[in-house]
Amino acid sequence: MSILIILLILSTAIEVCAEKQMKAVDTVPPLQLVELPYEYNALEPVISERTMQLHHGKHLQSYIDRLARYIVNTPYSSMPISQIVVMSDSSVYDQNIFDNAGQILNHNLYFAQFSPRGGGEPQGVLADAIINRWGSFEIFKQAFTQSATDLFGSGWVWLACDEEGQLYIVAEPNAGNPVTYGLTPLLGMDVWEHAYYLDYQNRRNDHIDAIWNIIDWPEIEARYEATGVAENSCQTAIERMWEE
Ligand SMILES: [Fe+2]
Repeated sequence: MSILIILLILSTAIEVCAEKQMKAVDTVPPLQLVELPYEYNALEPVISERTMQLHHGKHLQSYIDRLARYIVNTPYSSMPISQIVVMSDSSVYDQNIFDNAGQILNHNLYFAQFSPRGGGEPQGVLADAIINRWGSFEIFKQAFTQSATDLFGSGWVWLACDEEGQLYIVAEPNAGNPVTYGLTPLLGMDVWEHAYYLDYQNRRNDHIDAIWNIIDWPEIEARYEATGVAENSCQTAIERMWEE
């Protein structure tokens, strides 16, 4: 098999993997307020009903309203949210679009990752990947918490994976999301003050400690598995081509 054909097949395989990863985060249309799988008061006392009303009903809605104004009659209007984020990140003229689209993507992932019956530890292939990367769930949790505590100003801390399933903790300022450099976001910690100030005031650390009690690990496991890396399918496909 010629090197040109191998490179063509390899590039197609990588594109398929990237598409799978994008689908893992594009579960809600860009201009639709994500429906919560729980009531506003269901996450108390970790997150109060009032914080949920403002965070979901006002802050997220305002990002959607602004993005709707910015993208009307532009090529962005027909794109899924992750594509809007990636494309606007590469344009110096579209900072407003990136900021609001990023916050929509971030909050869609954020609100869907909680459950009043959450907490505990992940299971299955995600648990294996965490142990493989950090040695134990407890060490991962400490590293993630430290990163969220230390992030200066407003932003997000993410657990993300690459196309081979390797996990990373990524700290991003403002509306940042690791999808802009090819990683799939799995779990996001919102450290904007609007996420916790009513309930915890300046005690960001207490808020982060409490959040672990409502993480819906089956949802995070499903996001990891939706990338296809759980079965090692992308890696296997590429390896198989090199072997032929
Ligand atoms: Fe937020």
